[in-house]
Amino acid sequence: MLTKKMEKALNEQIALEAYASWLYLAMASWCDQEGLEGSAAFMIRQSDEEMDHMKRLYSYITEMGGTAIVPGIKKPPTDFKNVVSMFQKVYDHEKKVTHSINELVALSSKEHDHSSFNFLQWYVEEQREEEALMRMIQDRIKLIGKGPQSLYYIDKEIQRINMEEIKKEQAPPAE
Ligand code: FEO
Repeated sequence: MLTKKMEKALNEQIALEAYASWLYLAMASWCDQEGLEGSAAFMIRQSDEEMDHMKRLYSYITEMGGTAIVPGIKKPPTDFKNVVSMFQKVYDHEKKVTHSINELVALSSKEHDHSSFNFLQWYVEEQREEEALMRMIQDRIKLIGKGPQSLYYIDKEIQRINMEEIKKEQAPPAE
């Protein structure tokens, strides 16, 4: 059983994850228009992940006897300055999500809600991985620098990182 406070906060997290999914899909569309196919594929996979994060929360709230609220989603931007600032926006959004997860964990402790505390540990781990991934992308972009073909190399690198992520997802779980 969830407290009303916890149920409300978990539903707010549903809305945040849903917006991340929409935002990343909008970024994928922009990347496609810019001919950045590797980055578009990366952002579509990220968008799918966010949808999964949302559905996990939905299932948990329902399992706990609460009401999961399917949110209205604000329209994300359709235009981005350039791919470098777009990835900075992704990193910033992930930091915002991490902050929100940390607040949820703190609330579950305050409410003595051990079940939610345990459930949220998956998100704590996921955010650690997501932030590390986005930080790595920032580092790679800096390394590639601003040469005449930098966009091409950035996109190739993102494509390579995306393939690595897919491989990780498909790897059998460690015994
Ligand atoms: Fe579900 Fe990337 O935050």
